Amino acid sequence: MSIYRIAIDGPAGAGKSTIAKAAAKQLGIDYVDTGAMYRAIALKLIRTGTDYNDPKALVALLESTDVDFDSGRTMLDGEDVSGLIRTQEVSEMASASSAVQAVRDKLVALQQAMGKRKSLVMDGRDIATKVFPDAELKFYVTASSLVRAERRAEDMKAAGQPCDVKQIQAEIEARDYRDMHRENSPLTRVPEAVLIDTSYQTIEESVAEVTNRVKALQSKGNKRGKRWKTTEKI
Ligand code: DC
Repeated sequence: MSIYRIAIDGPAGAGKSTIAKAAAKQLGIDYVDTGAMYRAIALKLIRTGTDYNDPKALVALLESTDVDFDSGRTMLDGEDVSGLIRTQEVSEMASASSAVQAVRDKLVALQQAMGKRKSLVMDGRDIATKVFPDAELKFYVTASSLVRAERRAEDMKAAGQPCDVKQIQAEIEARDYRDMHRENSPLTRVPEAVLIDTSYQTIEESVAEVTNRVKALQSKGNKRGKRWKTTEKI
């Protein structure tokens, strides 16, 4: 394989980014966090007070906006915004504005251009369906809503914030429903995607599911032994 693209999709909080980042590091290729790109646009919408429902204003903003990565940092018009895009306000704006087709068109084009130049691991919601439908490997990372809620509650407790697991679980389920049922690029598991359920796995086990499959694909051409073939009509 010369240039290869690894697509990782899945709902929020299942561990996609952790897996994608670690797998890219082990494989020595780039990692692209597409959620960070939607967040960067959201930050600019907030800063400029632009209404994403106003098509003219939105197009003007998108045409004059540059989103890129530099050594793993998220760059918005040349400024490192990696820390600034992780607030609740930006999460909410990203969730709403990422449903707008003009925003998706701009970012999907940028993401596809990145995959033309070099091998990469890309994570998001529509990587296997829209960005790289022809990706060499596709994964769908998930975990039960209860496990995701418990992980989030642990983070909040560690930060000294009060929390209620049942309430967090309900919020996660509502967000999953929104992501899976929106009109533009809903989160879907394509049949060929390998399912990784991180609920009862260690991070190392989940990462190995990705890297082992990449290595198997890379060595496929060099292997000796009998090849699998279909004996029944399917
Ligand atoms: O993965 P995240 O929470 O950083 O993503 C931020 C928002 O962007 C989230 O509401 C989902 C959306 N998103 C998307 O619509 N498509 C992607 N490929 C990645 C993220």
